[in-house]
Amino acid sequence: MLTSPTIQLNSGYSMPQLGFGVWRIPDEQATECVEIALQAGYRHIDTAMIYKNEAGVGRALRQSGLARDSLFITTKVWNDDQGFDKTLKALEQSLEKLQLDYVDLYLIHWPVPHAKLFVETYEALVSAQKAGKIRSLGVSNFHQEHLQALFAKNLPTPAVNQIELHPLFQQRPMRAFHRQHGIITESWSPLAQGQLLQDQTLTRLAHKYAKTVAQIVLRWHMQSGLVAIPKSSNPARIHQNLNVFDFALDAEDMQKIEGLDANHRIGGDPAVYPPPKIT
Ligand code: A2P
Repeated sequence: MLTSPTIQLNSGYSMPQLGFGVWRIPDEQATECVEIALQAGYRHIDTAMIYKNEAGVGRALRQSGLARDSLFITTKVWNDDQGFDKTLKALEQSLEKLQLDYVDLYLIHWPVPHAKLFVETYEALVSAQKAGKIRSLGVSNFHQEHLQALFAKNLPTPAVNQIELHPLFQQRPMRAFHRQHGIITESWSPLAQGQLLQDQTLTRLAHKYAKTVAQIVLRWHMQSGLVAIPKSSNPARIHQNLNVFDFALDAEDMQKIEGLDANHRIGGDPAVYPPPKIT
C-alpha cells in the first residue's frame, strides 16, 4: 500500500501531504471513490459542505473500519453560512453527515470580503476548536489582506490556507507570505483541472522519469513543500496520483516546471468571487 509523508502544522498536529479531493464527485459516487482512495493508502480526504457529498464520504470512512486518528478529514464552511452562529450550526451539520465527532481541519471556503463576515466566522472556528470539534484552524482562498485582518484581531494564525495552485499559477508571493507566518500552503486543483496534461515540457519530463504528467506535477507540489489534493473518480488514476514517492525531480527539472508559471488562474479571484447577490 502507498503512503504519503506528513507535514507539521502550527496546531501541533500533522497532515498527510498528499490527500484525496472530492470536488465534483456526486454523493452517490463519493462512497466508492473514497473507499478506493483509502484502500490505495490515502489517509487525508478533502471535502466541503458545498460539494454535497459529505454523507457519501462519511459512509466510506465509517465502513473502512480505520482508526479515527489515522485519518485526516477536512471540510469547509460555505459562504452562505458565514457569521458566528451560522458557522457553528454548519459545522454541526457537516459533522453529522461525516459521522464524525471532530474534523481535523475546518476551512472558511472563501473570504467573501464584501460580506464582511470572515473575521466573525473565524472566531466561531476558534470557539469550535476549544470545544474539541476542530483540530486545526484554516482558511481557503484568502489573500494577504484577509490574513492580515485576522492578525489585526490577534486571532490564532491559521494552520493552512488552501488556494488555487498549479504550475500555470504558482502563487509565489502568497507562498512567501505563508512561509513568513508559519502557514502551510495547500494546493487546490493541483493538476490545473487537466489543463496541463498535454504540456510539452511536462510530457518530456514524464518520459524521462517514466511517470505520467500528473505524477510529475504532483511530485513538483511535494518537492515544493505544498500539500496537494488531486481529484479523480477513476480507480487507476486515484492510485496513480498517490504513487509519487518513489522518484525525485532534479533541481534543473524543478526549475523547468517553475518556468511554466503563466499567472493563469482557472477559478474565481477571491477578491471579487463570488460576486454579491443581486436582490
Ligand atoms: P478523472 O476524475 O476522470 O480522473 P484537479 O485535481 O487539478 O482539479 O484535476 C482534476 C481533473 O484531472 C479531473 O478532471 C480528473 O479526471 C483529472 N485527473 C485526475 N488525475 C489524473 C491523472 N492522473 N491523469 C489524468 N487526469 C487526471
